[in-house]
Amino acid sequence: MRYARIIGLGKYLPPKVLTNQDLEKIVDTSDEWITTRTGIKTRHIAQDKESTSAIALPAARLALKRAQLSAKDLDAIIVATITPDNQFPSTACYLQHYLKAEKAASLDIAAACAGFIYALVYAQGLIESGIANNILVVGAETLSKLTDWEDRSTCVLFGDGAGAAVLSSGRKKSFLASSLGADGSYGELLILPAGGSRLPTSKKTVKEKMHFIKMKGNELFRLAVRIMVDAAKDALKKANLDSTKIKLLVPHQANIRIINAVATRLKLPSHMVYLNIQRYGNMSSASTAIALCEAYEEELIKKGDIVVLDAFGGGLVWGALVIEWV
Ligand code: COA
Repeated sequence: MRYARIIGLGKYLPPKVLTNQDLEKIVDTSDEWITTRTGIKTRHIAQDKESTSAIALPAARLALKRAQLSAKDLDAIIVATITPDNQFPSTACYLQHYLKAEKAASLDIAAACAGFIYALVYAQGLIESGIANNILVVGAETLSKLTDWEDRSTCVLFGDGAGAAVLSSGRKKSFLASSLGADGSYGELLILPAGGSRLPTSKKTVKEKMHFIKMKGNELFRLAVRIMVDAAKDALKKANLDSTKIKLLVPHQANIRIINAVATRLKLPSHMVYLNIQRYGNMSSASTAIALCEAYEEELIKKGDIVVLDAFGGGLVWGALVIEWV
């Protein structure tokens, strides 16, 4: 049997940092509100010229270096993003070109905050079915470019960043089980209304700011906790495990209160839950990718550990993946 496993992780954060104090000067908000309601203190913001593929590139290079692979070894590149460089070509194609990954089939996956987990599981399928040997999976977002900087209910939440994982085939099972799902009936809760075929760009859509993220935060909050708990439990059950076996939960970083509620329901103490929301805010697909990379860099993950990735996002979509680190 051949099994997918992660052999290299990388990340990149654009250098510009926006603090809560900076936001106090832009909209009617306070460090105190943002900290207590979300847990966020700072976020990184891409420069005008930094596209999603541009920030994905250093993350990908670092993951390849740590995996000791060349881009020429890649059979596929999957970029999870809802902030692509263009509608087409895909962000993955830009990345394929920059990396000179000559034989890599390349595509984007749009599964919002669960995108990195979706992409890992799809890559697992390609590797374990024998279609590919080495795959680069990236979660990269420049949400700041779709943010309405006059809307205090959303602009304090998001940040930019990229995380990458190189997957390769091995002999020991590592991705033990996963649970992916979607419910499109809740699509309106988190949406970029204009710029697609449903509402093409026009002077009216620009004037009405329909190219910015619109979110019903309260309703999402309630769904997020239940869905993340159910997804994690379902994936654990499929792996014949329960939450007592988890060494580290790496959750999507949308709101510290959501993460704490999920941890409480899974009966996990706080030291078993990875957090970086305070530094980066919600980076959609990049959140779990960067969190996994940082947990590894901080030596919180060792061989034999059970790590659970767990995310929820606009769509609605969700995903949990149980990994035994090999
Ligand atoms: N600064 C100060 N006040 C703010 C504010 C800000 N940045 N944003 C909103 N408020 C105000 C609101 O206007 C509201 O005031 P009102 O009661 O006078 O109307 C009050 O704070 C409470 O707003 P509410 O939306 O109920 O706050 P909340 O506790 O639900 O927190 C979120 C808002 C967005 C932080 C929270 O709902 C959340 O994180 N939701 C989930 C987000 C999510 O999961 N997103 C994507 C999935 S990946």
